[in-house]
Amino acid sequence: MTEVNEAPAGASSGGEDAEPLLSMRGIDKHFGPVQALYGVNLDLYSGKVTGLCGDNGAGKSVLTRTIAGAHQPDHGQIFFEGKPVHIRSTRDASALGIETVYQDLALADNLDIVQNMFLGRERLRHGLLDEDSMELAAADTLKTLRVTTVRSIRQPVASLSGGQRQSVAVAKAVMWNSKLVLLDEPTAALGVVQTRQVLDLIKRLRDQGLAVMVISHNLNDVFEVADRIAVLYLGRMVADGPAAGFDRQSVVEYMTTGAANGRPSEPAASASGEV
Ligand SMILES: Nc1ncnc2c1ncn2[C@@H]1O[C@H](COP(=O)(O)OP(=O)(O)OP(=O)(O)O)[C@@H](O)[C@H]1O
Ligand SMILES: [Mg+2]
Repeated sequence: MTEVNEAPAGASSGGEDAEPLLSMRGIDKHFGPVQALYGVNLDLYSGKVTGLCGDNGAGKSVLTRTIAGAHQPDHGQIFFEGKPVHIRSTRDASALGIETVYQDLALADNLDIVQNMFLGRERLRHGLLDEDSMELAAADTLKTLRVTTVRSIRQPVASLSGGQRQSVAVAKAVMWNSKLVLLDEPTAALGVVQTRQVLDLIKRLRDQGLAVMVISHNLNDVFEVADRIAVLYLGRMVADGPAAGFDRQSVVEYMTTGAANGRPSEPAASASGEV
């Protein structure tokens, strides 16, 4: 990860008092002939949940993977805490405090909760796995996040319900001094009660001061948890601003036509905080 000393060009407060934790400016990404992202601007703030909306194929997962270091942008710049950064791997992202919960959860079914939470980052003591310390830390994190329905942190993940699995995936992401958590469709496969658990968990992360970006097709979920809303349409960011500036109809219009209230999107709207 390289850092260059340069102030974020045109980074706006987006109508917020604080400087964004992460800003994207002019991010392009293509795969062969498919242009997945066009000049995308986005600001993510600590202590705020940003709901990222968009139809299938709009570029939400590609955007998430670009922040997470799994894809490299072709053009554009990412700023983290005001400094330009190059996030070349998920390891670079973790070093900055960026953790991702992917659409397909990537938990190991045959391992228990503690083993999953420490997978690849196991704690050692005298050359042996420090089970006690990992167990304590895992239990602590789950308790802080008030994930209380799990019977034993030593049960295999395969035996958990969908909501519990999602909670473990989120807890795993926040255990590493995260500053930014990216959640790609965290409630897609969940029932009503489990969705509620995950939405509550997202609010708790926000209340703990983390920046959260959540992708969801469910506008009820978005309007319940999001402080800000950003909409991608065919790879372009067509709206980005405080959630209070949107209603369901305008989000649906942005998602399906790239414009709302007869107002075409302007790239400048991305950084203005007004839509
Ligand atoms: N690895 C890849 N190789 C080639 N094309 C890709 C790749 N990943 C994504 N794309 C393309 O980029 C575009 C955006 O895909 P992306 O997965 O970001 O959509 P999405 O908004 O997450 O959609 P969904 O709501 O269905 O998850 C699509 O046209 C997709 O086919
Ligand atoms: Mg996706």
